[in-house]
Amino acid sequence: MSSPKKDLLSLQELSTEEIKSIIAGAIELKKQRLNNAPTVLQNKTGVMIFEKPSLRTRITFETAINELGGHAINLASEMVGMGKRESVTDVARNLERIVHLIVARTYSHQTVELLAKHSSIPVINALTDKFHPCQALAFGMTLQEHLKGDKKPKIAFIGDSNNVCNSLMVLSAKLGYDFSVVCPEKYCPSADLLNTCTTIAKSTGSEIKVTSDLKGAVKNATVLYTDVWTSMGQEHESEQRRCDFASFQLNAEILSIAPKEALVSHCLPAHRGEEITSDVLDSEQSIAFDEAENRLHVQKAVIVHLFS
Ligand code: CP
Ligand code: NVA
Repeated sequence: MSSPKKDLLSLQELSTEEIKSIIAGAIELKKQRLNNAPTVLQNKTGVMIFEKPSLRTRITFETAINELGGHAINLASEMVGMGKRESVTDVARNLERIVHLIVARTYSHQTVELLAKHSSIPVINALTDKFHPCQALAFGMTLQEHLKGDKKPKIAFIGDSNNVCNSLMVLSAKLGYDFSVVCPEKYCPSADLLNTCTTIAKSTGSEIKVTSDLKGAVKNATVLYTDVWTSMGQEHESEQRRCDFASFQLNAEILSIAPKEALVSHCLPAHRGEEITSDVLDSEQSIAFDEAENRLHVQKAVIVHLFS
């Protein structure tokens, strides 16, 4: 009997060992970029459906699929009319007959869950309103490349408890990193996800915290991470969010409170002058652009994992 197909929807489906193995695989794939690359997608086609804009995710997935020997089709969501012209379930049931992989960026997380449930081919979440697992894996890889010593990393995520924050929290809990969400009270992570991560953290020896004390949280941090205050789909709240997050900017003053060797990251795109200032994003301490490149390598490793 063949083993059940695997998906990557939230990171919660991966064990600590699987995450470590994907990151190790990505570091190896980066070294051998075009020599001897695995061809797990030879004669296979991946379909990418994007309901929201993208630079990095779209380009890195298309490149990853091509470099693994496959062929990528990019479908703008208006062309598919998923959930409008045709139900998500029927889209999944058609795609499984024709192609071998679905990469989907959707507004609702439920859409990627439905695609996964109703198709027999792997589905990768390329960002939903709840999670951005590939970003978190790229962060894990980049941190491993930059970390000095073997002290347990302490991540301070400054900003909204959004998709990126949620996935970084799951990754940290699974890898045993301490993780603090630093935000105004009304933008805290959901109680459900906090409970899940706290339970995982107990078994890996990490600590998950939520605080609005920015200076206190960055004092001992290994990494200061931030993301936009207004995510795609929340544009109608942007004015309110600019007020609510005004004192949560990652700037030179905040960086000066952190340890000298602290790293800075951002999933990009950044709104320079809002959640982060240019001097900090472009500083020697910033690993944001390394993380952007690593999306390619880590997503190749994810595909190898799903097809192995
Ligand atoms: N970080 C990230 O996912 O970038 P894009 O939205 O450009 O894909
Ligand atoms: N939180 C951001 C991430 C973009 C990569 C958004 O969802 O818009």
